[in-house]
Amino acid sequence: MSTPLGQFPSTRLRRNRVDGWTRRLVAENALTVSDLIWPIFVMEGQNAESTVPSMPGVRRVTVDRIAGHVEHAVKLGIPALALFPMTPVAKKDAEGTEAKNPENLICRAARLLKREFPDLGLIGDVALDPYTDHGHDGVIRDGYVANDETLEILTVQALVQAEAGIDVIAPSDMMDGRVGAIRTALDAKGLIHTRIMSYAAKYASAFYGPFRDALGAGKTLRGDKKTYQMDPANSDEALREVAMDLAEGADMVMVKPGMPYLDIVRRVHERFGVPTFAYQVSGEYAMIAGAADHGWLDRERAVLESLIAFKRAGAAGVLTYFAVEAAEVLRRA
Ligand code: PBG
Repeated sequence: MSTPLGQFPSTRLRRNRVDGWTRRLVAENALTVSDLIWPIFVMEGQNAESTVPSMPGVRRVTVDRIAGHVEHAVKLGIPALALFPMTPVAKKDAEGTEAKNPENLICRAARLLKREFPDLGLIGDVALDPYTDHGHDGVIRDGYVANDETLEILTVQALVQAEAGIDVIAPSDMMDGRVGAIRTALDAKGLIHTRIMSYAAKYASAFYGPFRDALGAGKTLRGDKKTYQMDPANSDEALREVAMDLAEGADMVMVKPGMPYLDIVRRVHERFGVPTFAYQVSGEYAMIAGAADHGWLDRERAVLESLIAFKRAGAAGVLTYFAVEAAEVLRRA
């Protein structure tokens, strides 16, 4: 088929795609190492590590191995880590008491990491699920996760973490009022520089499955988290959650999971113009890593494409288990 004379398209969007340098020049977004936050798993014991079957390539390490585990990430320039504990069953109880222990895994890891890498940002998850024997993020009273009683424990958990060197408290529990309660508690102790990155819009998601395996919390969880985490059907409600957390003093907000919720990232960033982060969660990691292991996806390309999509949606950064390999690619480029 030939184009009739005079009917040539005067605008050809393909012109700006014709070679690599033009494509680079007109690119609207860029992913850099500074956009990456790497979640890591810490476990009890000595000089040991273990693998997470549902997250191929992800390891848990003992505290004494942490420095070696993260050194490469620090050298690559990854700005911050998010720390998660695999608490032994013997230390779990109905009230999540271990969360308040200044010698718990997270606090020990934080002290060591601050000493070894003073310029590395440390993000501490605040919620009780790694520490409760029922697997819920708060304490249960009459079959319901009790909001206000849980807040009292979360504030202590946040304090012991901040005192151990955690720079950013990241409440992931979805209790109402947690950001305000934690901010008040931190300020009362003079911890005015400790930031709060709230998991503001956190959905009750099937995509957390592999993470619960990593923490050993999957089998223990009784029921689901639908009475506190958000309904995936909702979007306006996410804006209310974010507004509330900001009013209570959140410095940064997060949307979680990531890829299926890019519309939420976009709306939050557009509406509030605050640092908005996205968490590419364990199930998203498992999907890409699993498909790549089968040869069904090109791992490197799928990872980079998924990450630039977060930037395009308006994210300031991404928590991703791919952080180190993405940083390696970006450094190579
Ligand atoms: C704890 C918490 C969860 C995740 C981060 N913090 C699990 C949950 O809420 O059940 C999930 C992270 C991931 O899946 O990678 N409240």
